[in-house]
Amino acid sequence: MMRRSLRALVKPYVGEPPRGLYRAKAPDLLIRIAGAAVPHFLSVVTRLGGDTEPPELPAAVNRTTMRIADRRRVTADGQVLALTLTPLDDTPLPRWNPGAHLDVHLPSGLIRQYSLCGDPGRRGEYRIAVRHSPEGAGGSVEVHGLSTGRLVEVSDPRNAFMMPLPGSASRASKLHFIAGGIGITPILSMVRLAEQQGTPWTLHYTGRHRDALAFVDELAPYGEKVHVRTDDEHGVPSAAALLDGVDPTTAVYVCGPPPMVDAVLRAIPRDSGIEVHSERFSAAPVVDGRPFELELAHCGTVVGVGADRSALAALRNAVPSVAYSCQQGYCGTCVQRVVSGEVDHRDDLLTEEQRRCGQMLVCVSRAKSTGERLVLDL
Ligand code: FES
Repeated sequence: MMRRSLRALVKPYVGEPPRGLYRAKAPDLLIRIAGAAVPHFLSVVTRLGGDTEPPELPAAVNRTTMRIADRRRVTADGQVLALTLTPLDDTPLPRWNPGAHLDVHLPSGLIRQYSLCGDPGRRGEYRIAVRHSPEGAGGSVEVHGLSTGRLVEVSDPRNAFMMPLPGSASRASKLHFIAGGIGITPILSMVRLAEQQGTPWTLHYTGRHRDALAFVDELAPYGEKVHVRTDDEHGVPSAAALLDGVDPTTAVYVCGPPPMVDAVLRAIPRDSGIEVHSERFSAAPVVDGRPFELELAHCGTVVGVGADRSALAALRNAVPSVAYSCQQGYCGTCVQRVVSGEVDHRDDLLTEEQRRCGQMLVCVSRAKSTGERLVLDL
């Protein structure tokens, strides 16, 4: 494909991001780099690519008890806390790749997902970073209350971010990262890897103000590759500004608040040849939703699911500890078994056989008909 200027490629911010955006058959540039560094990862990506083997579902995820060895504030405003977790013995920790995350099982029973933001080469520790959100559902407040020496259970690292774009055999020879706020956490490890491998890269890092940006000191050595744009100094950036320098030889990785991620996704036409990989902080919006009900078979509780809510969101009201991760239908963490009712499956992950056996990804899938009741084996 001929190189075209960004002006010719970027679309206005309209419409919904295409469904199935996060999966493809061809490994992308960062995956090729990571694969060279950590061969195990390629097998994971091949499986998730979905040609032959059924997806691995949550039952296969191990849990390990780890100790909080260090906690430190990593923003000038003190609102982001980085925790270093170490194992209870000398066994090397499972390998991970930039973009991977952990499920952290908090003492209250809440389960939260946090991106790994340390050095994948350090097999004796994991590092996560969490922004304090008092208006949230309680996970971040609980994390900020954990003291050094406290034990927590975590899953093995899992990677849901680096899902290639459907149909795009990779032509990328350079990487462009876009991070909004705490979205820097998966990106931080990615830029380190790109730098180590000598792959050309740039980063646009946005936030409300500089004091709220985490890890600015760790990014400082990369000089002009890192473009920090804060709303108070530069105004809220447009998608075109965040995509400055992007052309069909670029793979774009974007992580941050949903409006920013959606703006970037909508600005890149599917036929542009640009690879895009994204992670939101929260679920994609429900499209064409109709209200229905969930019944928990073991206690008889009935939960209403509004037209604009996901089954997962409604279920979490009744069962706060219910497991989930990507909230976009590609990781399998939220799988539930449906005892009765007809499901409108909206994921690309479950096989027909798994669907026939009653499995449902409640983060995206819904009841087939308005007002229908799905009975879950819960
Ligand atoms: S949370 Fe990832 S598939 Fe539902």
